[in-house]
Amino acid sequence: MAEYKDISPNAPVSAKLLNWVDNRFPLSKLYKEHMSEYYAPKNFNFWYVFGSLALLVLVLQIVTGIFLVMHYKPDATLAFASVEYIMRDVPWGWLIRYMHSTGASAFFIVVYLHMFRGLLYGSYRKPRELVWIFGCAIFLCLMAEAFMGYLLPWGQMSYWGAQVIVNLFSAIPFIGPDLALLIRGDYVVSDATLNRFFSFHVIAVPLVLLGLVVAHIIALHEVGSNNPDGVEIKGPKAPKDAHGHPLDGIPFHPYYTVHDIFGVSMFLMVFSAIIFFAPEAGGYFLEYNNFIPADPLVTPLHIAPVWYFTPFYSMLRAITSEMMYALIACVLLGAFLGVVKARLPGFLKGGIVIAAAVAVLLMLSIDAKFWGVVVMGGAVIILFFLPWLDNCAVKSIRYRPGWHKYLYGIFVINFLILGYLGVQPPSPVGERVSQVGTLFYFGFFLLMPWWSRIGATRPVPDRVNFTAH
Ligand code: HEM
Repeated sequence: MAEYKDISPNAPVSAKLLNWVDNRFPLSKLYKEHMSEYYAPKNFNFWYVFGSLALLVLVLQIVTGIFLVMHYKPDATLAFASVEYIMRDVPWGWLIRYMHSTGASAFFIVVYLHMFRGLLYGSYRKPRELVWIFGCAIFLCLMAEAFMGYLLPWGQMSYWGAQVIVNLFSAIPFIGPDLALLIRGDYVVSDATLNRFFSFHVIAVPLVLLGLVVAHIIALHEVGSNNPDGVEIKGPKAPKDAHGHPLDGIPFHPYYTVHDIFGVSMFLMVFSAIIFFAPEAGGYFLEYNNFIPADPLVTPLHIAPVWYFTPFYSMLRAITSEMMYALIACVLLGAFLGVVKARLPGFLKGGIVIAAAVAVLLMLSIDAKFWGVVVMGGAVIILFFLPWLDNCAVKSIRYRPGWHKYLYGIFVINFLILGYLGVQPPSPVGERVSQVGTLFYFGFFLLMPWWSRIGATRPVPDRVNFTAH
């Protein structure tokens, strides 16, 4: 138990109240540890605003969600009409609904940029592996949250999107059909599905998401923030002042609270502009087919998920039975290189040969649809392993070999192309491009242990680069 602190009887009431609380709950201690005495590197740039923005959008989604639930009806016969009622009759209902639907897309924009910052500056590397892993778990939860939320308006896209994605689970050998049945609660997407998705969307997943966000920030504050130079400001060798505070750090509050308020203002301007002038964002944030009530008897001509899922959806569609031969060739090549090139003990090489043989047999015997699901899931799961895939001697892109910048650039363009193709109806050219894109995406990560070691790095300074402005 912490020592009880007395306060002068002449102290102001507010100080007495705070002292009373502090003797029972570590309020001032938490404030100091995470705000006024949390030393963050002084060279943060604009990339460092997206963490706070993600927090802001999370709060916005929860608050607007609470108000939507007051009027929404999770019932297949009422859901669509209840959303229309919110849009037309509930005072300010249209604003709350558009804030929530635009918020979903904003969340993904902000989180994708936040993750890319991590990639640029090597923020996932030692000692921040857990910060990254909690982040990846957040990303998975966010995807589940968005997917289940999308069913709730009960429009054509809600219905058929859920139908397509839940049906994918039935491609899993042995357990697939039962698993799909368990998820739907019925043989087709129905009222039972709507009820369970509603329950997960409004309570189960947000609870996990909140817990993970708290863990993400606690883990970050335990090790301290990285920065654009990738220099550790709190390490044993880092310069400190007489109080032990890092010379390259500044207190989060007030310096970065002000920095973040600026970022928040910019964000809110764009966010409001979209809500007031283009809430559907040309069919990207709210798909036009979703203004038609769900009809289990009429399948839309073209079913596409919302933009934030489309890079992964493209990878799913890329896995045709023809593509399986390319994947088998990759497995065989990988096994060959592992046996011939890697310096491994004999039993491990034997293991590689057996694993490759089993993988090829499974790839030949199980339907390509299943492997599409594996590839789509694998594209997210592989992110968890990033801290152990990157072997570069330095963290930040600033000191990596120059060509890394181009490689990261191609990675981003490839991801955007995959995203674009996922929105388009299937076509022979699109299929080929998405197959190449999928191979590039996985090649980027799986070959990283090799390519990240190649090339000359630039010397990393002892102190962060900072010019006062
Ligand atoms: C709800 C979603 C999320 C919230 C609210 C959130 C919040 C934050 C905040 C407030 C910070 C500190 C400020 C900053 O560095 O920008 C941070 C840092 C970080 N986040 Fe997230 N985050 C989220 C999702 C993610 C995801 C999906 C990943 C990666 C997969 C991730 C990886 C990281 C990393 C590596 C850092 C440390 C960055 C550094 O020190 O350079 N976060 N996050």
